[in-house]
Amino acid sequence: MRQAGRYLPEYREIRAKHKMLEVIRTPELAARVTLQPIERFDLDAAIIFADILNPLIGMGIELDFVEGDGPKIFNPVKSAADVDRLRVPTPEENVGYTLQAIKIVAAELKPKNIPLIGFSGAPFTLSSYLVDGKTNQNLDGLKRFMFSEPRAFFSLQEKLSELIVAYFESQVKAGASALQLFDSWLGALGPVEFEEFAFPYINKIIVETKKRCDVPFIYFAPNTAGLYPKLKELPADVMGVDWRIRLPDASQRLDNKFVLQGNLDPSIMAGPVERALSETKRIMLERPGLKGHIFNLGHGIVPHTPPDNLAKVIAQVRQAQ
Ligand code: CP3
Repeated sequence: MRQAGRYLPEYREIRAKHKMLEVIRTPELAARVTLQPIERFDLDAAIIFADILNPLIGMGIELDFVEGDGPKIFNPVKSAADVDRLRVPTPEENVGYTLQAIKIVAAELKPKNIPLIGFSGAPFTLSSYLVDGKTNQNLDGLKRFMFSEPRAFFSLQEKLSELIVAYFESQVKAGASALQLFDSWLGALGPVEFEEFAFPYINKIIVETKKRCDVPFIYFAPNTAGLYPKLKELPADVMGVDWRIRLPDASQRLDNKFVLQGNLDPSIMAGPVERALSETKRIMLERPGLKGHIFNLGHGIVPHTPPDNLAKVIAQVRQAQ
């Protein structure tokens, strides 16, 4: 959940000299940034530095991260013809730089016995950027496309699913020892649309990846407690949980099928440390009865988070373990 990032001065130092895409596409820089949080904090795992969006570039998408404005796609997908034009490149030709970064990091972490997490965005969330061209929380553009051009929408989901399974397999071959699928905007769907437009692809990605890779699979989709009756059918090992629901409640509604990952509110982590610590304590007290629990934030770390808050929260987790 955004281990590296703007809250770390050593990350900002690298970003002052190199653009976001340059860091992602230079294996040595991506590896260095991946390792920064591991060197500073007592963490159990690292996550490879990349973004969910850069693998879209090889499909024919023009993408940039605009300073202060987030990701931008300059040729968004607006029609069936646009979907037809998208290529499905191999991971080696598309994101060879990330695979190289994974090799460097995995070699560094192996002696320390620290696993490296590989990741990808999920089809629905990637589509929201492809169609709307930027972050758009209400997803009106994507929904309009989905309802009015369902065949083009489904063809897009197929292409993305194929790309994602191959990407996951290549990350594990390069040295990743767990995988996480990020579905940040899935919560914009109601349960009926979720079943029709998103679930089949997420399910297929996990099934196909599990056939090819023997590693734990984490699925993360915030704001989705209303979708749990269907989400619980996914063959994932770990379910990411945001702060909008208590862990025991989430576990019960998911039939205790998953190890849970979460769920401290990132804005609490960023605020007065006393509250960050008391919330951490509460979350740790809620663990008994869960199938398993990986302490984490409920979403990505926010830029104004004091790094020392993280160090103190981690110490508190260790103490409660
Ligand atoms: O945590 C890590 O170190 C792993 C790397 C990682 C990044 N993005 C780096 C990044 C991961 C796992 C992501 C996932 C990602 N990217 C998601 C899914 C998780 C989530 O947050 O919901 C999404 C939706 C994106 C798309 C994206 N990338 C957005 C919306 C933004 C802008 C965010 C902002 O606050 O402005 C990015 C940029 C980005 N990706 C940053 C980082 C460290 C900040 C970039 C910078 O240095 O300026």
